Amino acid sequence: MSKKILFLPGDGIGPEVCAEVEKIINWLNQNLNTNIETEEALIGGISTDQYGKPLTDETIELAKAADAVLLGAVGGPKWEALDISVRPEKGLLGIRKALDLFANLRPAITFKELVHSSTLKEEVISDLDIMIVRELTGGIYFGEPRGVETKNGKKYGFNTLAYSEDEVLRVARVAFDIATKRNGKLCSVDKANVLEATEMWRDIVTDLHSKNYKEVELSHMYVDNASMQLVRNPKQFDVIVTTNMFGDILSDTAAMLTGSLGMLPSASLGEVQENGKQHALYEPVHGSAPDIAGQNKANPLATILSFEMMLRYSFSLSDIADKLNKAVKNVLAAGHRTVDIQEKDSNVVSTSDMGDLVIDELSKI
Ligand code: IPM
Ligand code: MG
Repeated sequence: MSKKILFLPGDGIGPEVCAEVEKIINWLNQNLNTNIETEEALIGGISTDQYGKPLTDETIELAKAADAVLLGAVGGPKWEALDISVRPEKGLLGIRKALDLFANLRPAITFKELVHSSTLKEEVISDLDIMIVRELTGGIYFGEPRGVETKNGKKYGFNTLAYSEDEVLRVARVAFDIATKRNGKLCSVDKANVLEATEMWRDIVTDLHSKNYKEVELSHMYVDNASMQLVRNPKQFDVIVTTNMFGDILSDTAAMLTGSLGMLPSASLGEVQENGKQHALYEPVHGSAPDIAGQNKANPLATILSFEMMLRYSFSLSDIADKLNKAVKNVLAAGHRTVDIQEKDSNVVSTSDMGDLVIDELSKI
């Protein structure tokens, strides 16, 4: 079975971390009989430099035609002064919207090898395994009207938080389905005490639960409390479903529970179409880290783990995904660390060393 992946390495450390996945794919094709083809296109600042915009129609078409997309990162100081409409981040938001990738899965799993890399106490985070399901194509990120205007000589800035019933329903279904396959526990996070759109969110989730998912234990939490609970006692959560903006914030918090933002993968999934195809984009949760870009220092594991999610969700290759996961664990257990997860007695390695070490381990499994 041949599969095609579109690589969108983007900016900053994006190209370096994506290169490690390319190496792994070559190894898999040669040693485990996969038939994965790759091609590459531009997104983010590098696309703005070349084409004047962060996302071109050509990139969108290539992404739609591919079986899955692997994205590195976008953004950096070079483009921060540009108008928001052509900033690199618009490219990322644009591709999420163009492919209708409404369900963003962000698993926060603490590797036992890294339990000491977190700033939190071991007993709080050991064996943590939670899944944040973030709505990704609606909410305040995309709501209209938006902008900055001048009124009576003073600036006036505004954004709109809006959700339709269908947008809430489809992401809630994904979250309930995931909860059903895990421990049957879902927490929906909103700000229903203040924001009407999220009060509606709560009502729709509650209604769906009573109609179709009674076997799941559903709870609701306000986002301010959820952010506190995530740090106080993260293991009370199994699956969390929330809006685009709240999911953005809570997933960075969850990342730090696992030790480093450099460890967190993600999958962004669209609707399953009639022909069985499902658009999917995989990316590390971390950003472009311009301060270390080009120095072969970045942690490629979040991108490698994003590729692992691709093997599972898009290609149904869970055996190979399991092997890759084991290889990553073995490398960490042997004490190899990139700088972001460095510990007292660890062996600090570069981005490309980390990729090589994962391949070495793969070849032993
Ligand atoms: C993320 C990022 C993006 C977001 C930025 C880069 C647009 O923070 O994927 O979490 O806000 O969604
Ligand atoms: Mg974010």
